Formats: sequence, structure tokens, C-alpha cells
Amino acid sequence: MRPLKHLFGIADLDREQIEYLVNLGHSFIDINRRSLKKAPTLRGKTIINLFFENSTRTRTSFELAGKRLSGDVINISASTSATTKGESLLDTAQTLAAMQPHVLVIRHSLAGTCELLADYLPHTALVNAGDGAHEHPTQILTDLLTLKQAWGSPEGKVITIVGDIAHSRVARSHLLAAKKLGYTMRVVAPKTLLPSKIERYGCEVYNDFDAALPGSDAVYLLRIQTERLTDSCAFPSIREYHEAYGLNAKRLRAAGPDCIVMHPGPMNRGVEIATEVADSAKSHILSQVEHGVAVRMAVLTTLCGGTGEEA
Ligand code: NCD
Repeated sequence: MRPLKHLFGIADLDREQIEYLVNLGHSFIDINRRSLKKAPTLRGKTIINLFFENSTRTRTSFELAGKRLSGDVINISASTSATTKGESLLDTAQTLAAMQPHVLVIRHSLAGTCELLADYLPHTALVNAGDGAHEHPTQILTDLLTLKQAWGSPEGKVITIVGDIAHSRVARSHLLAAKKLGYTMRVVAPKTLLPSKIERYGCEVYNDFDAALPGSDAVYLLRIQTERLTDSCAFPSIREYHEAYGLNAKRLRAAGPDCIVMHPGPMNRGVEIATEVADSAKSHILSQVEHGVAVRMAVLTTLCGGTGEEA
């Protein structure tokens, strides 16, 4: 496999690397389910999580992944970092890198943050934990592990992704992964929440959710990214949005008996997803959360030069 120095985005990974990380993640699921959740894989390795945007799942799962593999993990959030005292992103990153961590995991609102910093931090592996509306590679690896568990392989399947496509790094990374792994993405959104020239990703585009449902193997819901929304008129009201683009039990039935439901979280119940669906047996949302830890174990292990054998 082509060696991995950083994890910037799905765009930089080839199929073999994606499958390697997903399969390695698969082998870590068991550790997280044991009563003694510890393996020596990252002993002596230091991981710093630097989060400038809010996070529950991603930050916690990187922290658990590092700790369960015996790494030393430090968490820094924007509100407690010296950036609030006027320090630049580059100075903060260089300061942390001077303390010789092996991996710096970064979430920032700026697209391309990790690529930008990489030139200045030659000895630190960088992981993109979400950069603005650009990419979120570990979420997609997490989803692919969930799909591996559900289907074996996503090849030939149809994933219908619904919601704020325009501002979603999750949607963008999935569109890139779909091409590499041979699954179809159907994107569904009002025109105001679709990026221009979305067809260039090779996806199917719908404005009508009900028209997109038949033949979907999974429906993947997205939150409206209010923090990135500049247009207050993107849709008339939450109630109307839910009526047109919310997944309820009736719509899920229209998709067919085997269709599964996914969401990267955080969910807004009653907006993009009805509670009856979120809590149903068709929902794989909590499996996605569980697999997030295993996949991040795989990413940290690989970037620290390990193979996971020790675990
Ligand atoms: C996503 C993110 O931050 O991009 N959440 C996550 O990492 N699980 C999606 C979102 O915020 O809506």
C-alpha cells in the first residue's frame, strides 16, 4: 500500500488505502467491546487533538482511540487555546509541534487547514478532523466500516444523502469516496442547499425527496449547517423543511424493506429526521458512533507506523 504520512481528505486516498483503513478499523471493533479496553499499539506515542470547532463524537472518539491504544493524548479546544489571546493558527500549530507529538488532529473552519500547515510541520503527522465545508475523511471511513458490517461491500449500492449538501464536508467526502469505491450517491436538497455544478462528482441529483427514495439502499441524513449558512432564505421554515426533506416512517417504507438509515450526528430530531426513524431498528446511527472509535484507532496506528498486530 502507498504509505500514508498525513490524512488530509478522501481526495488523496486511493481505493487500497481506504479499504486498508476500513479493514484495520474492523479489526479494532472487538477491543472496544471488551471489558478491558486496552492494547499497547500506541505506547510511547503522543497525540494532540486541536479543535477550533465544536465536536462531541469526533473529538471523543479520537481521544478514546488514542487512550485505548495506550497513547498519550492531549485535548485542546479553541476556547482554552492561546488563539483567544491573538495567536495565529500557524503559531499555535508550530508551538504544539515543537513539543514533538507524533500526530496532530485538527478541526478548523478553514478549508485546507492541514495541507496549509503540513509544509511548516515536517515532523508531525496531521489528521483532518473536519475543515470547514471541505472534507471529513474519518467520518467517511467510519461510515464505510458501518456499511461493511451491514452489507459486506458498498460496491453497486445506492446511498441517498439528503439535506444541506452545499455546506457539508461529509457530503463532499462521500461523493469523492463513492467514485473510488463504486457506489452511487443520490443527492437530495432544495436548490438553495445544493452547490453549483454538483453533477461533476458523478452523482444523481434530486430536488424531490420522494422521487429519490425507491431503489435507495441507505438514506443518509444531514443536519442543516446553520453555522455556515449565510442565506437566511434557504428554506421557508423548519416545519416546511421537515415536510419536504425530513425522513419519517412513511418515506422510509417507500425506500424499500432493506433500506438502512444513517446520520453523522448531531441529529436534529423533527427537522431532518423523525424520532420514529432515528430510534427504529433500521437506524445504524449509533453503530456509526461505535465504529468511529475503531476507525480512528486505525488511522492513528497507521500514521504512527504500526500495523495493529500488537493489538
Ligand atoms: C459532522 C461534522 O462535524 O462535519 N459531524 C460529525 O463530525 N460527526 C456533521 C455535522 O456537524 O452536522
